[in-house]
Amino acid sequence: MPRLGLGVWRAKDGEETENAVLAALEAGYRGIDTASLYDNERSVGRALKASGVARDSVFVTTKVWNNEQGYAETIAAFRRSLERLDMDYADLYLVHWPVVGKYKDTYRAIEDLYEQGLIRAIGVSNFNIHHLEDLMGSCRIKPMVNQVEMHPLHTQKKLFAFCRKEGIQLQSWRPLMQGRLELPLIGELAVKYGKTPAQIIIRWHLQIGAITIPKSSKGQRIRENADVFDFELAPEDVVAIDGLNENRRFGADPDHIDF
Ligand SMILES: NC(=O)c1ccc[n+]([C@@H]2O[C@H](COP(=O)([O-])OP(=O)(O)OC[C@H]3O[C@@H](n4cnc5c(N)ncnc54)[C@H](OP(=O)(O)O)[C@@H]3O)[C@@H](O)[C@H]2O)c1
Repeated sequence: MPRLGLGVWRAKDGEETENAVLAALEAGYRGIDTASLYDNERSVGRALKASGVARDSVFVTTKVWNNEQGYAETIAAFRRSLERLDMDYADLYLVHWPVVGKYKDTYRAIEDLYEQGLIRAIGVSNFNIHHLEDLMGSCRIKPMVNQVEMHPLHTQKKLFAFCRKEGIQLQSWRPLMQGRLELPLIGELAVKYGKTPAQIIIRWHLQIGAITIPKSSKGQRIRENADVFDFELAPEDVVAIDGLNENRRFGADPDHIDF
């Protein structure tokens, strides 16, 4: 699984998503994160075909949306996603949110699809520790990934440690706080390392062991966000960024979802 991928939430279906995916593939990205909800799976599939990059060298993630959860519903939702992507398999399929009363049946369907060879890796998203414990109490295949909101203002230390202990890879969504990059420490580090604030934050995600999926629709930012492999943050700078944590979410709290 590539450690850095492109997120495409809120990239419009059509040219915007296609151009972003093409720019990313050209810049060397080999991971794309979409979802049934994002309504742009068709464009992801089209861009991948147009790029000429081999299907098996790209890692495509998609997710089952909340109103598609349940066993039979998930099997059907997955088939619709594959059809829109115009692919024979997905690399990673996630339960998008822990819909109470549904997520276990949803995950059981995903396990079956995995066993049929239609998905290369399976997991969940927005699961807190208690959701994971509950699921792991009955699932056959432990989730391989948990994709959650994580960034310098919400470092998810406890959840991260739990996932690490259980061998579940943590993947960070909203890694750039949706572009809220004006934190003084990040600015200072940008000067120190001669990098941009976004690059400092993405590098922090990678150095703490997260897999991350920053979103941009702009070619220049897509390239900027991937230009993070030529420097390393000193351990004390990683710790300093950890210290920015305020347990502050910009997205929904998985324990209180109403969608
Ligand atoms: N599992 C879930 O529930 C869930 C929830 C939310 C998101 N996600 C996934 O995670 C991905 C990333 O999260 P996100 O899209 O919410 O937020 P994000 O990646 O933290 O931030 C994206 C925003 O930051 C801007 N940006 C990107 N690079 C920048 C740079 N170098 N400098 C300044 N601004 C920059 C983008 O604007 P431009 O596009 O204009 O450049 C966009 O508005 C999503 O696209 C999606 O794939 C998953």
